[in-house]
Amino acid sequence: MREETSSKPAMKAIVVHQYGGPEVLKYEDAPRPEPKEDQILIRVIAAGVNPVDDASRSEKYAKFFGITLPFIPGYDIAGIVEKAGAKIRKLKPGDAVYAYLNLKDGGGYAEYALATEREAAPKPKSIDFTESAAVPVVAATAWQALIDTAKLSAGQTVLIHGGSGGVGTFAIQIAKARGAKVIATASTRNQDLLKELGADVAIDYTKQKFEDIAKDVDVVLDSVGKDTLARSYGVVKKGGFIVSIVARPDPAELEKHGIRGASMGVEPNSDELAEIGRLIDEKKIKVIVSQTLPLADAARAQEQVATGHTRGKIVLKVADEPK
Ligand SMILES: NC(=O)c1ccc[n+]([C@@H]2O[C@H](COP(=O)([O-])OP(=O)(O)OC[C@H]3O[C@@H](n4cnc5c(N)ncnc54)[C@H](OP(=O)(O)O)[C@@H]3O)[C@@H](O)[C@H]2O)c1
Repeated sequence: MREETSSKPAMKAIVVHQYGGPEVLKYEDAPRPEPKEDQILIRVIAAGVNPVDDASRSEKYAKFFGITLPFIPGYDIAGIVEKAGAKIRKLKPGDAVYAYLNLKDGGGYAEYALATEREAAPKPKSIDFTESAAVPVVAATAWQALIDTAKLSAGQTVLIHGGSGGVGTFAIQIAKARGAKVIATASTRNQDLLKELGADVAIDYTKQKFEDIAKDVDVVLDSVGKDTLARSYGVVKKGGFIVSIVARPDPAELEKHGIRGASMGVEPNSDELAEIGRLIDEKKIKVIVSQTLPLADAARAQEQVATGHTRGKIVLKVADEPK
């Protein structure tokens, strides 16, 4: 947990005291954190749920991320700045913000959370706090994969696996806003969503082999791994790029096909969040929230996300939307 005072006031939070399954997520009172000079304290209105939240309560990943028990999970938040440390320059109390909190500190499943200016940006004005909390981690991942890593440019063709999930829904729209042609995969029930988001070609991976349809693409974004990654090398044109957010592309396969590839882990980046917020306000990106649950139901939310078949995002409601 981020450094905090043990004195009052308290807040409601989901606290993990031991590693384990969803049952270790306890809804209880916790001390309200106090911002250091380079932090803001945010009154959280909503918190997004991600597959990584599930991983963070396993000992293996917690150690990898540098998490120590007890901790409050949650990396995606939207809320209002309550207090700002002395070194904070861009944000002030009363500002509506959204943030991707770093993997070590987390703290989003709570009524109050801490963030740095590298993690938080002004919230998009055209959507509410619940929708805003669905954005940071997955939109930053899609941005960093397609733009920063694969250098996707206008006129190129990109194959996006898992187009109906958190990362995929943003990846399709970011690629379209970039001027790329988009081929995206999902199961039968999500074909309509792929089209609604702007995919030029929608592939039902339960009925069609994507490699029979997608050929000579410039970029692949892989959020599925295993067999899906293994079958993706052959659909990329020479000189093209595979970026995976779940596995390390095989150097031998990359060389054999004359292509490049990389795996990547998303980093907090408030400049990119601000840019994504502008695209949302310009109506170039819409946010898909399929379910909202109260904070106390975090375990149920994580169980759903762990199925690997969430449509868009699931968001925890922490407080009422401000009027
Ligand atoms: N490296 C990083 O920095 C980073 C960042 C964020 C996420 N991730 C990882 O990336 C993965 C995706 O994250 P997410 O938040 O987008 O997850 P998500 O919201 O659960 O979405 C997963 C999507 O994948 C689709 N899917 C499942 N099996 C598929 C298959 N065989 N082919 C094509 N699509 C398939 C599902 O659609 P259907 O229901 O239609 O099957 C679902 O919409 C997770 O493993 C997550 O841990 C990594």
